[in-house]
Amino acid sequence: MDRIRIRGGNRLNGTIPISGAKNAALPLMIVSLLSPGTLTLSNVPRLADVRLLQRILQNHGIDITVAGKRAGQTGMGDVMHLSAKDIVDTTAPYDLVSRMRASFWVLGPLLARCGEAKVSLPGGCAIGTRPVDMHLMAMEKLGATIEIENGYVIASAKKGLKGAHIVFDKVTVGATHAALMAAVLANGDTIIENAASEPEIGDVAECLVKMGARIEGIHTSTLRIKGVTSLKGAEHSVIPDRIETGTYAMCAGMAGGDVLLKDANANHLGAVIDVMQRAGVDVEVRNDGLRIHRNGAALEPVRVDTEPFPGFPTDCQAQLMAMMTMANGTSIIRETIFENRFMHVQELARLGSDIHLHGDTAEVRGVKKLTGAPVMATDLRASVSLVIAGLAAAGETMISRVYHLDRGFETLEEKLSNCGADVARISG
Ligand code: EPZ
Repeated sequence: MDRIRIRGGNRLNGTIPISGAKNAALPLMIVSLLSPGTLTLSNVPRLADVRLLQRILQNHGIDITVAGKRAGQTGMGDVMHLSAKDIVDTTAPYDLVSRMRASFWVLGPLLARCGEAKVSLPGGCAIGTRPVDMHLMAMEKLGATIEIENGYVIASAKKGLKGAHIVFDKVTVGATHAALMAAVLANGDTIIENAASEPEIGDVAECLVKMGARIEGIHTSTLRIKGVTSLKGAEHSVIPDRIETGTYAMCAGMAGGDVLLKDANANHLGAVIDVMQRAGVDVEVRNDGLRIHRNGAALEPVRVDTEPFPGFPTDCQAQLMAMMTMANGTSIIRETIFENRFMHVQELARLGSDIHLHGDTAEVRGVKKLTGAPVMATDLRASVSLVIAGLAAAGETMISRVYHLDRGFETLEEKLSNCGADVARISG
């Protein structure tokens, strides 16, 4: 199994190109189930999760071809053509869904297009229990009958889905995606209230509109959908990854230096930029991306709660915690989205951090020095927090189980070493 070796202490200087967003690319690929036409996605990041979803969708009968970048094309990712002319299988099996939760989201489109779906319940995961009750509530509101049998959700809507009024009692990205994807082909009007307004949902909605869907209120918490009978193919470019952007911003904040995060979209990063500035990092919004700059001055501690968009994202919580381990005082970081997203704390402790957990809140007491050690990646964002800490730790940090990192960060070691970091992948 590959490992990542970091020798800390180098400042970062240069340019890091930001990839297409994993959490937009995955639902966009799933959207292809809704149409017999070809959906062409560009700026698709080259990630393990994307490859796994490709296999899952191929299992349903989607024909997928992937080509590299063409001349004149913007973005750095792949171009992917997805064509769901015939859906040959409406079952998403346990061995695939348990490996990637987002694959559960095929439930809505399969129901909408085929009137039936059998999708394995995803099970627990490292960051919390993550139930799917709100997904099922939304499908039932849209007229599906749902049964749970042998670990599978068996959903049926033989006469098609019907428009409905769906109100979520908690903001949920996944169930908003599912409800939106199902409602676009339902018969009649749907209103989704307290919808998640994460940029990735807006990106999916904009792609659906290109395919012929009728959606109002995109980028707000109330989505109004007029169902149509069919959708056509379209071309769409995946938005830049705001979590990858926040992560590299914190790498630069931790290591010091001057880095341009090329193609980053500042409009998706208001809360992250605010926290970086409060911590004493210079952030300049430019036409071509975000410039992050920090001279030798110590970081200032911050107080942050994770929240749904536009608040500070839970997917940047571990990275912020790593950056605050060497701040000039005590930071308070509260995780409000997932109940168990502090797996990184024990590993950061191995590098010499001083973090105390009180329920959903971490008290991060800044230390003068971190020292390198062998550590273990536990989930995607937790593992990149170890990279951030390793960039400033004295000596060598060796991160094992980096397959977690490969799920969501494209060529991480290359992007960082191009800016002067001493980061290498050790194969085998
Ligand atoms: C999405 O997960 C993201 N995944 C996560 O990113 C992200 O952390 C999360 O949204 C929050 O922003 C993808 O986009 C692929 P939720 P999702 O439904 O949709 C509870 C990463 O690192 N809930 O918004 O699964 C749930 O348990 C990943 O890239 C219910 O109670 O998250 C959580 O506490 C990790 N019932 C809260 O809602 C439900 O039916 C928000 O979850 C659904 C969710």
